[in-house]
Amino acid sequence: MRYKGVIFDLDGVITDTAQYHYVAWKDLGIKIGIDIDEEFNESLKGISRLESLEKILIRGNKENDYNNLQKEDLAKSKNEYYVSLLDRLTPNDVLENIVETLNYLKESNIKIGLASASKNAPTILNKLQLIDYFDVIVDPSQVERGKPSPDIFLECAKMLDLNVKECIGIEDSEAGVVAINESNMLSIGIGSESNLNHANMVLSSTKELIQTIKTLIS
Ligand code: BG6
Ligand code: MG
Repeated sequence: MRYKGVIFDLDGVITDTAQYHYVAWKDLGIKIGIDIDEEFNESLKGISRLESLEKILIRGNKENDYNNLQKEDLAKSKNEYYVSLLDRLTPNDVLENIVETLNYLKESNIKIGLASASKNAPTILNKLQLIDYFDVIVDPSQVERGKPSPDIFLECAKMLDLNVKECIGIEDSEAGVVAINESNMLSIGIGSESNLNHANMVLSSTKELIQTIKTLIS
């Protein structure tokens, strides 16, 4: 067996919190006069909170309108709204076939890691009642560079005590797929071929994940 570990992104792969990030950024955008549409939102996926804010300010030519403290306040206010949206998360919000895939990986003795840019990841995994499946959850504040840099995937493989060639990475974001590719793992993109054609394999939804993983690890 070649693959010994699967490293998951969280938002947009395990649950559909990617849409809550969008709602919360859009709301902040309205307050500061910057329009955020779905196409622009794709470029925010996988990117840390503060880096996302920087991109939004640049889009509105307002990057020099706020000092660092004010930027932290804006990011905090977006996060408060986002966290209030997370209140409604339950185990029913786990995306299709994710639990089956995690069970299959456990039964097959494949290690499971989480490489999410989100500081809210442990809270979300607890709400979804999935936290016990994960052998390793990388704290994004412990890696120097965010996605699209490969750091978080490399750190996760290291913590799982695996070589990158033994790992499969799963991502829904353009930046995340770049990060997996740069780490030299096999990349599976979940979403549309038009955004994710740089992934080694693209699946239109998590529904197809279990069969793909079975084929890869058997
Ligand atoms: C990533 C999301 O998983 O986490 C991004 O794709 C988000 O949209 C980033 O900005 C940081 O998340 P959080 O929860 O720490 O603000
Ligand atoms: Mg994601």
